[in-house]
Amino acid sequence: MIDYGYIRLATLKTADRFMEELRNTSIPIPCESELLPVSRSPIAHPSELLGKKLCNRFAIQPMEGWDADAFGAPTEHTYRRWRHFGASGASLIWGGEAVAVREDGRATSRQLLLTKATQTGIASLLECLKKDGKRFASDDNVFIGLQLTHSGRFSHPRGPKHEPVILYHHPILDRKFNIPGDYTVMSDGEIRRLEEDFVAAAKLAQECGFDFVDIKHCHGYLGHEFLSAKTRGGEYGGSLENRTRFLKNVTEGVRANAPGLGIGMRCSVFDVIPYRPDPVTSLPGKPGKGVPEEYLVGDYHHWAFGCDHDNPTEPDLSEAIELFTIFRKLGIHLVNVTAGSPYYNPHIQRPALYPPSDGYLPPEDPLWGVYRQMNAVRELKRHFPDIVMIGSALTYLQDFLPNVVQAALGEGWMDFVGIGRMVLAYPSYVRDLLEEKSLDRKKICRTFSDCTTAPRHGLPSGCYPLDPYYKKAPMSEELAKIKKNLSS
Ligand SMILES: Cc1cc2nc3c(=O)[nH]c(=O)nc-3n(C[C@H](O)[C@H](O)[C@H](O)COP(=O)(O)O)c2cc1C
Repeated sequence: MIDYGYIRLATLKTADRFMEELRNTSIPIPCESELLPVSRSPIAHPSELLGKKLCNRFAIQPMEGWDADAFGAPTEHTYRRWRHFGASGASLIWGGEAVAVREDGRATSRQLLLTKATQTGIASLLECLKKDGKRFASDDNVFIGLQLTHSGRFSHPRGPKHEPVILYHHPILDRKFNIPGDYTVMSDGEIRRLEEDFVAAAKLAQECGFDFVDIKHCHGYLGHEFLSAKTRGGEYGGSLENRTRFLKNVTEGVRANAPGLGIGMRCSVFDVIPYRPDPVTSLPGKPGKGVPEEYLVGDYHHWAFGCDHDNPTEPDLSEAIELFTIFRKLGIHLVNVTAGSPYYNPHIQRPALYPPSDGYLPPEDPLWGVYRQMNAVRELKRHFPDIVMIGSALTYLQDFLPNVVQAALGEGWMDFVGIGRMVLAYPSYVRDLLEEKSLDRKKICRTFSDCTTAPRHGLPSGCYPLDPYYKKAPMSEELAKIKKNLSS
């Protein structure tokens, strides 16, 4: 077994031991040793969003399954995942998963697509989620959004062929993902047509019955790329005003065409330079520790949003603060705070002990990754108390997530606690907490990253190590073969 040099949280038996570990490593994650009764706990503080009365502070993060059919409609795997989201007991369902607004923006040929042709399918997903959710809360107590996206640089709409849509040439990402220097950049006219597609999809989402749409601006996809389009000319590049023109136009279009529909934003509020496995220590199928890609010192921030000028491996929140001021002006008061991208710096985006097949061994204790995102949402919340914020990247906390989020919510670090990978491994995690049941340790996500490795090789996502539905399915054998081939 690899010695990562970091404590395995699964070996710690009590919150006190976890807190001791935090002290030893000087990682300033807040944590409380005793859990309060739910009736007095901040996890169950009521709140109100667009007239809905929510009775807890959990949000299910968007978790894509790469399991739609060729037309972008849901399959049995998709329905099952959404049923679990509904049955989780969380009051906020943030987006379900990333849904492309048009064909060329699909990350894979198995991504959901929202058009008139697939609208009935997407509406039935929502119904299915609500039906299972009704056992725990009425429709009036759950706020449900749909995440709208264009996958931009990471589009593969027709299967394995990479068909990127880019806003500018990026010195590291072009090289990393084989984008030639003369590859055509999306024109301003094409962006205006895409704005119309986002608005049309938002209208379809409203007709389906969603409470809000998320105009996705994170994880390296097209919305996020706008934020870093500093070297682009024209109406959509250069100044932050230009880089948020797409957001402004889509927001105004949604307000005009789908009045009453809520608008939220999932946003990578900081980024750092792309990483790669250390070439010196990597072996086939056994990536070394992550190291930053080579860069010109003092230069990288020209191609990133929210990256420190002098040290591109660290965040700088000053750009996010300017961005949130724009959110306020646009009347966007609901933001899901995330960071980085799973394609080029997964340790920032989704801290894990075990890397996905296109990743690297953690370059730091993954708890630092958790803290970086927690600290970002806390700082932004301090500046913008009027904006409702959801925190991300908490699954790595495992058994101690309840103790940490009780402290974080109590101290006002965030308004809602986002749950991502944990809901795939342990669909009733939130409900068990809310019902004061002891957690089933065998179901807790230990961040094996198979949920990311599987879709990187054309398989649906899911928790292959812990969820019997995937563990016992033929696709699990396929995944095992893929992993074996990679390491031989
Ligand atoms: C399998 C998988 C699918 C994901 N799908 C989406 C998605 O569709 N949209 C999105 O914004 N984030 C997506 N994410 C990111 C998660 O929402 C979340 O930010 C990340 O997993 C970190 O949160 P966690 O520590 O609770 O897992 C995905 C992550 C994984 C592992």
